[in-house]
Amino acid sequence: MIRDSSSSAPSLGKDLLGLEPLSADQIRLVLDTAEPFKEVSERAIKKVPTLRGKTIVNLFYEASTRTRIAFEFAEKRLSADTVNIAAAGSSVEKGENLVDTARNLEAMRIDMVVIRHPASGAAAFLADRIPSNVINAGDGWHEHPTQGLLDLLTIRDKLGRIEGVRVCICGDILHSRVARSNIWGLLKLGAEVAVCGPRSLLPRGIEELGVHVFKHPEEAIEWADVLNVLRLQLERMQAGYIPSLDEYYRVYGITQKRLERAPRDVLILHPGPMNRGVEIDSMVADGPHSAILQQVTNGIAIRMAVLYLLSGGTPERANVAQAEDVPAGVRR
Ligand code: CP
Repeated sequence: MIRDSSSSAPSLGKDLLGLEPLSADQIRLVLDTAEPFKEVSERAIKKVPTLRGKTIVNLFYEASTRTRIAFEFAEKRLSADTVNIAAAGSSVEKGENLVDTARNLEAMRIDMVVIRHPASGAAAFLADRIPSNVINAGDGWHEHPTQGLLDLLTIRDKLGRIEGVRVCICGDILHSRVARSNIWGLLKLGAEVAVCGPRSLLPRGIEELGVHVFKHPEEAIEWADVLNVLRLQLERMQAGYIPSLDEYYRVYGITQKRLERAPRDVLILHPGPMNRGVEIDSMVADGPHSAILQQVTNGIAIRMAVLYLLSGGTPERANVAQAEDVPAGVRR
């Protein structure tokens, strides 16, 4: 959501709710700002003073390993004060609604909220009602913008560009907020985008977004430079989308045997958590063309960049902010 149009230079505005509302320049701004932040995590002392004095609440109503921990590391490495709240163990269990929870947090003078929620639109709903910056860490089937951004950064790192790259998103597109953020981000930056999966797991009319549809993974592998393999989101499915997990692996699994027929090296991405032996086999997930763990590493730099930009930082200042307060002996 863009709420700050006072300057001609791109800014992210108040909130990051998705990649659909962002321009290509805004997406590039985040990717470029993430570059200098990568280096902070490689230092002996992984800390810069950039967000000293800011208070950030991580409000997670759904399970998460990568996103929650990457946000927490990003916040701590930027010297913000952080509080983690899970629905379990909070007053949500006593029936408190989302806005009341957030208003009570605001009464404690917070600056930013990172929210993951099972309802599509929950982050936007909150952003409209509180003055703090809101970052969507995944809302239902809608968007997971920081995952989309870290996927873009990983493609750019590995292939040197995004424009013209052919990316096929494979698997359960219907239930996937990662797929939606990837589709918006990739199309805006000029990539060619395809999806591949059972018809029952593709949103109706997906072609209208400008993506190709492949019925069979063999066709996708022949076409693609990058496969972004998605987990079957069994927790969001009613019964009946696929006959069985074994059948799904047999027909749609991204296996070494299938990849051996590729006419070129294919970069393998997966947002995690993986179901090995369902959507991907271990030889592919752990193989030489997999960038799955690099995605996780890039997730910290992307979240540092988003937190920094939403707090009013500029890309030019990012380098300066990192250099301040770092003892000379620990600089690389
Ligand atoms: N990719 C991702 O969102 O993973 P988590 O659910 O572990 O945060």
